[in-house]
Amino acid sequence: MQQTNFFVAITFLAVALQFFLQPQLASGQGKMATVLSIDGGGVRGIIPGTLLRFLESKLQELDGANARLADYFDVIAGTSTGGLVTTMITAPNKDNRPMYAAKDINKFYLENCPKIFPQSSRDNFITKVKSLFGKVTGPKYDGKYLSSLTKEILGHITINQTLTDVIIPTFDIKRLQPVIFSTNDGKENVLKNALLSDICLGSSAAPTFLPAHYFETKDGDGKTRSFDLIDGGVAANNPTLMAITHISKRILMGKFKVVDMKPMESSKMLVLSLGTGTPKLEEKYSAVEASKWGLLSWVYEDGATPIVDAYSDASSDMVDIHVSTLFQSLRSEKNYLRIQDDTLTGDASLADIATTENLQKLVQIGNELLKKPVSRVNLETGRFDEVRGEGTNEAALIRFAKLLSEEHKLRPAKLRPSPAQGGPTTGGEHLRRSHAITGILLACIFVELSLI
Ligand SMILES: *[C@@H]1O[C@H](CO)[C@@H](O)[C@H](O)[C@H]1NC(C)=O
Repeated sequence: MQQTNFFVAITFLAVALQFFLQPQLASGQGKMATVLSIDGGGVRGIIPGTLLRFLESKLQELDGANARLADYFDVIAGTSTGGLVTTMITAPNKDNRPMYAAKDINKFYLENCPKIFPQSSRDNFITKVKSLFGKVTGPKYDGKYLSSLTKEILGHITINQTLTDVIIPTFDIKRLQPVIFSTNDGKENVLKNALLSDICLGSSAAPTFLPAHYFETKDGDGKTRSFDLIDGGVAANNPTLMAITHISKRILMGKFKVVDMKPMESSKMLVLSLGTGTPKLEEKYSAVEASKWGLLSWVYEDGATPIVDAYSDASSDMVDIHVSTLFQSLRSEKNYLRIQDDTLTGDASLADIATTENLQKLVQIGNELLKKPVSRVNLETGRFDEVRGEGTNEAALIRFAKLLSEEHKLRPAKLRPSPAQGGPTTGGEHLRRSHAITGILLACIFVELSLI
């Protein structure tokens, strides 16, 4: 009898020990650096908005309703409209959690795009372009609403305060050089620690659409730096590669501590890259037409802007090709998921058609994109070919959600943004501790019994 009690005690003690040892096993280093990247594309930001809503809902199914995208990605990069989305999901609210849940991104677009891109301005612009004697001065939109909106929402928040590392590219038209804003730079260099509102306005100032944006930053000694910014899309409409090199640079500097990896080691990266859609299949321009275009037609042709379409698509695809090759070279192509729709047509393919009808259509396009098969760029044709055996984008995002959730649990708590108090992790922690304590108490009782 006493012996039995003793064995039972040992068993309880062993179980209790296990509960105590568990957190030590779980708080080791991360296995993969995680990256989210969002392209530019004006109102078409609704397409990645829809995909992100789906991804966050899957993360919430795994880790509880308080889970937010910013908890899971080491780096979030966004250009232009992608920069706005990045800011929405990483700027801190008063509780130091993301200002917007992913499900609120589309709400924001549906509510504000009609005021950022009023269709009357568009009609005016078209009338001016069409009248030979009219003068086309200024961009299509004055940008005043977007400016007051971002300032009102973001207030004095600077880029060093985002809840995970963000990267937002812009282009300085005065110095003719890309200016890349990042949380890390903001923390290390006061002159690069600009207001998020200024960065958003700079990165979304697409030529011919919105005015260029000027601002200054100041350091403690009163030294200033000026910025004359236009859309980051001219530098990197798809900021995926920028995010990857950013991590690699941090590794070289010995400052990337969450994962033990080499620079550009794609087998230790999990990269989700979201496009905003393109009208590739529509083939709306041709050499025969383009050879007749004058200055104006390159900027404005039948409601579209060929020069902006060409450079933004070219730069998005070049990055996709580079990144695809990088991942294929280490046989880790499953770690890179690029979701892009190349079948847009008509209004949906433009960056500034902010009618409710078109905005709703974009939501629908995003939802349909989830059901399409995972595709990868064909280096010959430039088209996206279905990848056999990898299922739909939806299935791929579910797979990513699981990997992101596992990765999140590997990170030591202080290195990762906490997924909200009272969330499942904290709950799990309490449960684990109480199991351990119960185990020890039971063990003690049985040790006593065995001694009687
Ligand atoms: C961020 O920058 C602001 C303004 O320069 C500064 O007051 C704040 O302490 C900085 N915060 C962090 C986390 O670096």
